[in-house]
Amino acid sequence: MTIFNVPLEELRQRGSIKWRRFEPDVLPMFVAEMDAEVAEPVRDRLKRAVRESDTGYPELPAYQEAMADYAQWQWGWHFDVTEAMLVADVVSGMREAVLAFTEPGDKVVINPPIYPPFRSVSQGRETVEVPMSDGGRLDLPALEQAFAEHRPALHLLCSPHNPTGAVHTIDELRALADLAERYGVIVASNEIHAPLAGARHTPYLKAAPGADAVIITSASKCWNLAALKAALVIGPARLRARINPVASDSASYFGILAHSTALNEARDWLQAASREVDANKVFFAEELAREIPQLRYVPSEGTYLAWLDCSPLGLEHPGRHFHEVGRVRFNFGSDFDPGSVQFVRANLASSREIIAEGIRRMATSIN
Ligand SMILES: Cc1ncc(COP(=O)(O)O)c(C=O)c1O
Repeated sequence: MTIFNVPLEELRQRGSIKWRRFEPDVLPMFVAEMDAEVAEPVRDRLKRAVRESDTGYPELPAYQEAMADYAQWQWGWHFDVTEAMLVADVVSGMREAVLAFTEPGDKVVINPPIYPPFRSVSQGRETVEVPMSDGGRLDLPALEQAFAEHRPALHLLCSPHNPTGAVHTIDELRALADLAERYGVIVASNEIHAPLAGARHTPYLKAAPGADAVIITSASKCWNLAALKAALVIGPARLRARINPVASDSASYFGILAHSTALNEARDWLQAASREVDANKVFFAEELAREIPQLRYVPSEGTYLAWLDCSPLGLEHPGRHFHEVGRVRFNFGSDFDPGSVQFVRANLASSREIIAEGIRRMATSIN
């Protein structure tokens, strides 16, 4: 099964951000959308719902059951379906966590470089930035120092981490959980990229059962279903009870149908996608080494995103240069961390042709 095989002409017909935000001659390798067809069981389920005019409100706990079954199968992690509440999507789940677990003016820890909404969902709170270490992993001593000094109410964890692709080990998560308990910090762990990491990933609440923590997750990223709104906040009743229950009404019935079908019936699709992403990372590294030997990319363990340091090129703003001169668009590093202007984030959930073309455009722009 080849997953990332949609021809460019077909992709350019899409109306989503990736294909509409920039000029038509720009090759988009930015936002986290996959260049894939939706897995067949998901397409079939949605077609059936439309055919049957089954277009009302959700009732059954289908998503909670599907996620619980998936978590048991993939990670050997058990949670009860009553511990999972619906929300519209992962970003609004993070916002709900901020509103529920902190007061205005409280401190929220984030780990830059970080997916930009981690900052925007913390609006009205003071963010304490504990950068990832040079190797792109959690910096536990720095986290301890920040917990002790700033006494934050909440740590918004990204697990696996976007953009560095770090998959936190069970030891790192346990160490973090010990610190969080010691300093009274609630952890909200965004695990939207976890299914693609497969067995490499450990759910936070598996590493730290009973912790004051919630997991916010969804099938949207790994099965490319962002158009179909639904996500889950999983955690103990004492925390969930603090979240406004109205948040659950924003999950759409079609989102629930699509996501639960993906989790139940498209596991082989994801395994194939994951293998292809791993191979694409190696391909990206090899092509870069050939075309732009000044740059070095070490494949990351998690996500289909590559975090690339372009400082050896000596450009003032590499992301803008590649867009304006090379006609290939990556996410700008500065959107993840003001200090990361020299980085770009590339999306590797694409065909080899698109990845090679993207690198060719980068190379041409600097020669
Ligand atoms: C870490 C992370 N969280 C959340 C999202 C967006 O998820 P949703 O569409 O469910 O809000 C993304 C999308 O790329 C992401 O990378």
